[in-house]
Amino acid sequence: MTTVRVVVAGAVFHQGRLLAARRSAPPELAGRWELPGGKLEPGETAPEALVRELREELGVETEPVGRIAGEWPLKPGYVLQVWTARLLAGEPRPLEDHDELRWLTPERVDEVDWLEQDRPAVAEAVARLRAG
Ligand code: CDP
Repeated sequence: MTTVRVVVAGAVFHQGRLLAARRSAPPELAGRWELPGGKLEPGETAPEALVRELREELGVETEPVGRIAGEWPLKPGYVLQVWTARLLAGEPRPLEDHDELRWLTPERVDEVDWLEQDRPAVAEAVARLRAG
């Protein structure tokens, strides 16, 4: 039996902007930008994992809003799913896995070097952000 593990990432919105996070590790991903998130733990739903990961990595409380349709392959055995989320409380800080954070307006979303696998979801997230 092959088990595919899910990595859930958040398109976090606040005041019309999208949060981007620059990875500090591993070396092959360091310097590239992503939607922050991480692996589901056993028994967790994707929204539960997202809330936990964003709390651990950024020190913020968030509320998942809706899933962005699609699933993107990562390394063998892993797939990426993306949810939009609303910032409820806290100011994001790069506590784990990242060394810089930026709030991007829709016009500026292409100014960072997104990981390839995140790009389709970033495009859809920006479309939702523009739609309000
Ligand atoms: O924090 P945890 O170890 O659970 O997960 P992670 O290291 O942040 O992410 C697991 C894998 O998903 C890594 O290989 C990341 O490169 C990948 N990932 C991604 O491609 N795009 C994202 N938005 C988030 C994670």
